[in-house]
Amino acid sequence: MGDVVKLFPPNVHPQAYYTYIAQKYNLCGLYYMDLWPLGPAQLILVSPETAHQVTVLKSLPKHKMESEFLGPLIKENNIATSNNPLWKHLHNMLAPTFAPAHIKNQVSVMVEEFLHFRDTLGRLADSGEVFRLEDHTAAAVFDIIGRITFNERLHAQAGGSEYLRNLRVMMANFIATNQTWNPVKKFTAKRALRNVRRKVDQSLGRTVKERHRLLRDSKVVPTKKDPYSILDLFLRDKLKECQEKGLPDSVELDPEFVDLAVQNLKALLIGGQGTTTSTICWAYMLLSCYPDVAQKLRDEHARVFDPSTDRTVEILRHEPYKTNKLEYTTAVLRETLRLYPVGFGIRVGNEDSTVQWEGRHYPTANLMIAPVQHSMHYDPTIYHNPAEFNPERFVDPDHATQFGWRPFERGPRKCAGQELALEEMRIALLLTVRDFDFEAVDVQPNSTQRVPFTDFDLKIGDMAFQELGMDAKPRGGMKMRVRRRAR
Ligand code: HEM
Repeated sequence: MGDVVKLFPPNVHPQAYYTYIAQKYNLCGLYYMDLWPLGPAQLILVSPETAHQVTVLKSLPKHKMESEFLGPLIKENNIATSNNPLWKHLHNMLAPTFAPAHIKNQVSVMVEEFLHFRDTLGRLADSGEVFRLEDHTAAAVFDIIGRITFNERLHAQAGGSEYLRNLRVMMANFIATNQTWNPVKKFTAKRALRNVRRKVDQSLGRTVKERHRLLRDSKVVPTKKDPYSILDLFLRDKLKECQEKGLPDSVELDPEFVDLAVQNLKALLIGGQGTTTSTICWAYMLLSCYPDVAQKLRDEHARVFDPSTDRTVEILRHEPYKTNKLEYTTAVLRETLRLYPVGFGIRVGNEDSTVQWEGRHYPTANLMIAPVQHSMHYDPTIYHNPAEFNPERFVDPDHATQFGWRPFERGPRKCAGQELALEEMRIALLLTVRDFDFEAVDVQPNSTQRVPFTDFDLKIGDMAFQELGMDAKPRGGMKMRVRRRAR
């Protein structure tokens, strides 16, 4: 494994290793890997057919490694890493947030925040400065997920969100604890992480309790169908229970409930931000390398909406369903997620479950099972010329293309925020690509390809390889310069 690691730039996301190994040894469908004593024995799934068996046909439970990995940030009682019965309760409670009609109700929020982002890009274009695209994109995406979570503007883009500042410190220390072998550095990062996590938990806890008192005192039980916020959905059951049981108005929330709400709000703020931010960054990067695709995107935006941004915004506010007609934009995003998926969830096998491949049954008992979407996305038997950025493959895709596309995975544990994320990303592109050209800076193309599965490093150097953060993220924050387009 050490030899494989050396082929890549430092701290690469492990999905790249799995793809490299699958292709080098011609391992189709699945393979076993034993990394003892560094980690548990693993079953790596590299085809949609094998992934389908553990995610859709029989959704196996999440492996405890997932909650252990995230443990320093979020306790295990969260929607992403818990198992039944808690997972089912959280999943049902949060479902209205992700309903298509509710997402369309959030379009005006997305428009407002991405217009702010567009103004920021304008200022950066005028100054000509080099900036970390990831930071500005993260602030815009955080302002959106913040409003969906609290129904309140957090002003991260204006530099005013204490939550975002603290979450960033948390993430930086989390990454540092995972990256260093130096015991002193590890200890310092762990301590800083604990302190800032306590701060985040306390301030989220205060927000939960204050909102509960406000709703309780004004005798409001939020509706399930079209809730104001994710926080209100959490409080709804408690308020309803109080009302139905005729409990006194002074009843406060129990600490266990507050903790459950805090951990899940944190999970959604972190999970809903990094993933979408990384994908938007990759979309701009790919568009900067493929100007013909960027032009096709602009043509679609002018055709489906309007050449003028003001008019486009007006249409978006009155006809939010019109974004469903942005077929090419959606294809660009699907292709971006194919080349740069954010990572994978892990399951645990058992005595009763096997994975079938080419007529044979492979045991799964006690194994960590990893369906690696990255390996499926770079599989030449599914995608012709897989290293090539070609959104056309998702305009009227064939069955294999559709089935093999799994950046959000599939089945009951698939990403709950898939449609929300796609809507956000469509609007980000719709409101910015017409006005700006992006250019990556500090790019040092590699003279020889690092690994056979991609030649993109011949163009953008090591930036072509995603870095391991909480998920797979842009390397070095993706440094860019942006220019206004002549119209
Ligand atoms: C481009 C953006 C995103 C990508 C690529 C992505 C991808 C994923 C993946 C791969 C999983 C794990 C699936 C599995 O283990 O089988 C997941 C889970 C999840 N994601 Fe996302 N995600 C994105 C954005 C979002 C957003 C915006 C939200 C909303 C806040 C969100 C909420 C969740 C939740 C709640 C889960 C856990 C689902 C469950 O276990 O029931 N995601 N996501």
